[in-house]
Amino acid sequence: MIQEHVSVTLIINKTQKLDKLITMEREFVMLKPDAVQRGLIGTLINRLERTGLKIIGMKFLKVTKEMAEKHYEVHKARPFYAKLVEYITSAPTVAMVIEGPNAVAITRKIVGATHPADAAPGTIRGDFGIDIGRNLIHASDSVENAKMEIGIYFKEEELIDWTPTLAPWFTE
Ligand SMILES: Nc1ncnc2c1ncn2[C@@H]1O[C@H](COP(=O)(O)OP(=O)(O)O)[C@@H](O)[C@H]1O
Ligand SMILES: [Mg+2]
Repeated sequence: MIQEHVSVTLIINKTQKLDKLITMEREFVMLKPDAVQRGLIGTLINRLERTGLKIIGMKFLKVTKEMAEKHYEVHKARPFYAKLVEYITSAPTVAMVIEGPNAVAITRKIVGATHPADAAPGTIRGDFGIDIGRNLIHASDSVENAKMEIGIYFKEEELIDWTPTLAPWFTE
């Protein structure tokens, strides 16, 4: 009986530790050309920053055709692909890497549904957009894709390992 109790406790502790490890994520975000042209850089970064997720990389860049083709390769066969590449390369963007527990799910929640008409109020696309072809922001849909997309836009040494002094006020 005692033995059983001990092993259950061990399993719970292992699971808790595993949860902490699994949920620490890196997310790739890009403020698209419409966001930059509309002067929304600060406003949109603020929405992400205030969650407590940590920005570990950021750059202002004009996406090249080669970068866009790699980034959106999964959409290559879609009818909107050519216009998507044209849009993302049409003006400067802000690329960011954001790190923290559940960074992908939390960021995607703040970004909102792909079509601004479906995006909930309070989300970036819901509050600032009307057109699916001008939806302001990109955020990777999985840790795996985030890793791939980060690799297109950042070198590992451009990502900064730092500890925000307020970290204990955001996570236990
Ligand atoms: N039907 C569409 N017409 C025009 N552009 C689209 C369409 N569907 C998707 N896009 C563009 O392609 C991007 C990538 O699509 P997708 O990965 O499905 O959405 P999300 O950006 O929400 O992950 C969208 O953010 C949008 O800019
Ligand atoms: Mg996507």
